[in-house]
Order: sequence, then C-alpha cells, then structure tokens
Amino acid sequence: MSLNTPISTWQGLRVWVIGASTGIGAAAAEQLYAQGARVIVSARKAEALEQFAAGKDSERAMALPLDIADRAAVLAAATQIEERWGAPDLTLVVAGTYNEMRAWEFDRDVAAKLLDINLNGPLNVMEAMLPRLLKERERRKGYLGIGFVASVAGYRGLPKALIYGPSKAALINMAEALYFDLAPKDIGVHCINPGFVDTPLTKGNDFHMPDLMSPQDAAREMLAGIKAGEFEISFPKSFTRKVKFARLLPPTAYFKLLRLTTKL
Ligand SMILES: NC(=O)c1ccc[n+]([C@@H]2O[C@H](COP(=O)([O-])OP(=O)(O)OC[C@H]3O[C@@H](n4cnc5c(N)ncnc54)[C@H](OP(=O)(O)O)[C@@H]3O)[C@@H](O)[C@H]2O)c1
Repeated sequence: MSLNTPISTWQGLRVWVIGASTGIGAAAAEQLYAQGARVIVSARKAEALEQFAAGKDSERAMALPLDIADRAAVLAAATQIEERWGAPDLTLVVAGTYNEMRAWEFDRDVAAKLLDINLNGPLNVMEAMLPRLLKERERRKGYLGIGFVASVAGYRGLPKALIYGPSKAALINMAEALYFDLAPKDIGVHCINPGFVDTPLTKGNDFHMPDLMSPQDAAREMLAGIKAGEFEISFPKSFTRKVKFARLLPPTAYFKLLRLTTKL
C-alpha cells in the first residue's frame, strides 16, 4: 500500500544518492540518470563518482565526494547542491558498511566506526536535509522525500551481525518515527530493507546467501518501491517473507530456527 505520495516521473527530479560509488547506490544512480533524473552522487571514492559524471550531461550529473560520518562535510555538500541546482527532491541514504563480529570478537573501536557510518551518517544527512525539506514544502508542491537503506538484518538479532544488525534496527525505527512526523506534511519517507545483494559489502561472506540478487535488480526494486510511494521496500520477497515470519516468533522458537538454519 502507498503510504507516501507516488512519484509520477523521475524526469527532472533532483536525487542525491549518498553511497553511490559501488553496489546498490551506484546501480541506482545509473538507473535514475537513465530515466531522466538529475543525480548527485556522493561517497568517499571520488574516482568512481567522477567516472559516473564523465560523459554525462553536467546539468544532470554531479559528483560530490564526502565521508558521511563527517558532519561538516555533509552540511557543506547540501549547501553546495542547493546553490547549484536547488535542494534535492529525494535524498537516498545508501551508504553503509559491514563488519562480521561475534561475541568473542567484540571490538569497541570497530563498533564505534561502524556506528559512525551506519547510524551517525544518516543523522548527519537528517541534520542537513530535514530543515530544507520542511522549507521546500512550504514553498512548493510536488514530490519531496528521504529514503534510508537499512536491512532485513535490522528485524531481529542475527549471529555475526552484532553491531551491523543494531545499526540497521535503529534506522528502521528512526524511519518509522520520521514517517509519523513527515507524512502529514506530504514529505515522503522510505525504509529500504534488502536481503542479500551481490556487492563488495557481501564479498567476504563465507556462508550461503539465499536468493542473492544483483545490485541492478536491487536498485530496480528500490526505485520502483519509492516511485510507487511505498514506506517499507523489502526484496527479494522470496527471502524477506521468510525473515518477516521469523520476526513474529517467540524467542525460544526464533533461536531454535536460527541454530537450525545457520548451523552456528
Ligand atoms: N549487499 C547486501 O546484501 C545488503 C543487504 C542489506 C542491506 N545492505 C545495505 O545496502 C547499502 C549499500 O550497500 P552495498 O551492498 O551496495 O555495498 P557497497 O557496494 O559496499 O556500497 C556501500 C556504499 O556506501 C559507501 N560508503 C561506505 N562508507 C561511507 C562513508 N563513510 N561515507 C560515504 N559513503 C560511504 C561506499 O562508498 P565509499 O567506500 O566510496 O565511501 C559505497 O558507495 C548499505 O547500507 C548496506 O548496509 C546491503
């Protein structure tokens, strides 16, 4: 069901994709550009961003390297976009990192670094974008919104995802709270929960990843969901339906199922 106002066309829409140098974000940026959007790409790897912009219409492709964990850099980038093109209509927070961690490997410094990117990063974007979205809404009609790529790993505690899981659970929770406040103002909020996607992030996984998707398919699902006005966008359904069912189980049954399926 559409909880947000659908997008009639990507044509001319200003979309800021943060985390667009590889994987789902890079694929989304290409697809958005191909469908006529004006795309700003951000991440730390400047070269990959420049490659995206090279050969494209400079009025529709902008590379803006930044570290999402750097609060001042995110604020400065938002100002730069506004001055050059006007405030983004849609900001997509795709940036994220993963560290496999189990209880006996707990490392406070690694945990802090992960949270800086996966949780403080989105907060930095909210600081830059929420006042702009509210101001824009007062000024004009048309689609305005923000989307966060969380994960099905945020639904419940999972082995190896000791800090990654909580970072995504926090994002899901935050997106719900944001939706409650922004929906009456007709500002879209989207929470994207992918299953397994074949990207640099999952390259190191030494276990079978069920229903593994390509980043292109993942980006297509994400953009289709946003365009349709969906709040929660999860894919592939063949996998996320099972994870959603597991979310309903009481702890005893949940832990038994986890041991059985992960063999850990
Ligand atoms: N792959 C999966 O199976 C899967 C499943 C569920 C959820 N997700 C989520 O999907 C999102 C995209 O991941 P992906 O699978 O596409 O992996 P990926 O290819 O590793 O992409 C991660 C993106 O985030 C950017 N990024 C990381 N740290 C950053 C920082 N400090 N500042 C700015 N950008 C940063 C990376 O660019 P730079 O390194 O250039 O900065 C890259 O563009 C992540 O939030 C991830 O948690 C992935």
